[in-house]
Amino acid sequence: MEIKLKNLRRVYGDLHAVEDVSLNIPSNTVYGIIGRSGAGKSTLVRLISMLEKPDQGEVYYGDKRVDNLSKAELIQERRKIGMIFQNFNLFSSRTAAENIAYPMEICKMDKVAIKKRVEELLELVDLSGRGDAPISTLSGGQKQRIAIARALAIQPDILFCDEATSALDPQTT
Ligand SMILES: Nc1ncnc2c1ncn2[C@@H]1O[C@H](COP(=O)(O)OP(=O)(O)OP(=O)(O)O)[C@@H](O)[C@H]1O
Ligand SMILES: [Mg+2]
Repeated sequence: MEIKLKNLRRVYGDLHAVEDVSLNIPSNTVYGIIGRSGAGKSTLVRLISMLEKPDQGEVYYGDKRVDNLSKAELIQERRKIGMIFQNFNLFSSRTAAENIAYPMEICKMDKVAIKKRVEELLELVDLSGRGDAPISTLSGGQKQRIAIARALAIQPDILFCDEATSALDPQTT
């Protein structure tokens, strides 16, 4: 699915975090955005992933405009995307496996299917057997891998990664 950004702007008070950004991101590509700390990368990702509304401009997934959706439509569109946050945003009250399961619970997937998918994903990120671990007991890189597994759980059409491998060594990346 192609993503189009038209003249996006986001201001916080008098700080212009994102100013007049227009981009076409083609389907089936890995597209990176780089810039110095504080340049506005995370803000831009929040705008593209419908977590925050722009003050100006438009966001399209294919031909569908997604920056001005109603709550119900937003929930529907969000099911197409996965997001890995710079600070992981894991639930500290849930175990590793329960974190990965969360988006599938929201989609009301069958319990047995969820369990199976969680095992697959734990294996994918090389954390088989650590499903019962409380989040607080995991290392930074392990937390990041759980966040990656959670983002992949519902096989999203679009995956947003905000420095998704910053805590990982080259081999694990
Ligand atoms: N909710 C907010 N309220 C006020 N200012 C904000 C908010 N979110 C971001 N900012 C400011 O907007 C600017 C851009 O922040 P952002 O997090 O997008 O940068 P970044 O490019 O992701 O940086 P880094 O590489 O350090 O992660 C920064 O000056 C930041 O302090
Ligand atoms: Mg950032």
